[in-house]
Amino acid sequence: MAETVFFCTSCGHESGKWLGQCPGCGEWNSFAEQPTTPKKKKKSGATPRRGAQAVPVTEAAAAPVVRLGTGLAGLDRVLGGGLVPGSLVLLAGEPGIGKSTLLLQVAAALARDHGPAVYVTGEESAEQVALRARRIDGLHDDLLLLPETSCDAVLAQLEELEPRLVVVDSVQTAILDDVDAVAGSVSQVRQVAARFQHFAKTRGVPVVLVGHVTKEGSIAGPKLLEHLVDVVMSLEGEPGHDLRALRAGKNRYGTIAELALYSMTGRGLEPVQNASAWLLEDRRSGAAGSAVAVALEGTVPLLVEVQALAAPSVLGTPRRVAHGLDSSRLALLLAVLERHAGISFADRDVFVNLVGGLSLREPALDLAVAAALVSSSADLPLASELAIFGEIGLLGEVRAVSRAAERVREAAALGFGRVALPTRDANGKLELPTTAISTVADLPSLLQPSD
Ligand code: TYD
Ligand code: MG
Repeated sequence: MAETVFFCTSCGHESGKWLGQCPGCGEWNSFAEQPTTPKKKKKSGATPRRGAQAVPVTEAAAAPVVRLGTGLAGLDRVLGGGLVPGSLVLLAGEPGIGKSTLLLQVAAALARDHGPAVYVTGEESAEQVALRARRIDGLHDDLLLLPETSCDAVLAQLEELEPRLVVVDSVQTAILDDVDAVAGSVSQVRQVAARFQHFAKTRGVPVVLVGHVTKEGSIAGPKLLEHLVDVVMSLEGEPGHDLRALRAGKNRYGTIAELALYSMTGRGLEPVQNASAWLLEDRRSGAAGSAVAVALEGTVPLLVEVQALAAPSVLGTPRRVAHGLDSSRLALLLAVLERHAGISFADRDVFVNLVGGLSLREPALDLAVAAALVSSSADLPLASELAIFGEIGLLGEVRAVSRAAERVREAAALGFGRVALPTRDANGKLELPTTAISTVADLPSLLQPSD
């Protein structure tokens, strides 16, 4: 008999009854009803399955891991050095962001360098994908398009084709006939992923699943698969901007959450060579409310302009708008500035923007965000050759951050003449003159007097 259970479409949390808010991930209205297929009863008296053999760690470590280059420099770095054979990778992102384009580029490059790559397309026809392949210069005989949504049919074909890479676009369109639920539902997505995982592990072929992130929650999101897959990558970007950020949220084969930047061009995604220069291209130096932050994502330092605008509010509750930054972090910085630097934003609307459409979470951005706010509030600019980094604590103190020397080196390489940084990071040999900042109360000293 089939019973009904409820699943969170965002994280997969299971419940016997419908819940308004998911206790697992905190999402609202994410619960959907799913019939469950009853588990088969174990036959009594059956001999227990002989499990895997224990192996010495030294023996396991001796097996070399050969990684496959993807043809895209930044992507290889995000993966920790290329695709690991037998790994299951999830590429998550909002519709239209460029997931299919990125993976078609990868499949074409892999087909060219290593042999057959199968691109399973459940959303678009082979002709549509071929048009895109032509556009990105990816026409190659070993790039095989498989327009099929049945998971069993795909797996049967893969056994014959013996590919070096499989891309499944998307996991939400693939369907297993023996699962009693619609495509994209929690049970389908989970079991489809489990099947491809089995294929990847037993055949030693990397499989990349595309997972759409959607706000509606009518289809199951990639969060559901995070525990199952080896690597979770996400492709992010702002509508109206060409910049795309690729990062790994989870990586069983890499050590650091790396970031790679691409620009969406007429011929697909192209790596952004000098990301800092690219991000600072349109900067109007000497403007009040502008500060240049030195962020570090993974191992790559990145200079990015922070813009702040504090303007008199006509509303009872002034607005706080953050683009590219966590809005609760902005609220915290405003409260700290009010208490420890005596600058009030109570009757002002505050807008903060990371220029270029990039989204960053690094605490080392705090000091630049605060400096931009102080600059906008005073209507005085910061020195145009100044780069800034440091984390701000609740007591207004400026805390040291990781890899200060590398951040300073990047600022020097881009022609900046001075760095404002936490006092503790100012010790040691650095490539630029520094201004040490110990509390947020020191920030007004960075402002340039108007003449
Ligand atoms: P797509 O890869 O289809 O996004 P996703 O698979 O994440 O839904 O790409 C969507 C957008 O990218 C589409 O609006 C067209 C644009 N695009 C380019 O700008 N240049 C290109 O070379 C390609 C192939 C697409
Ligand atoms: Mg697509």
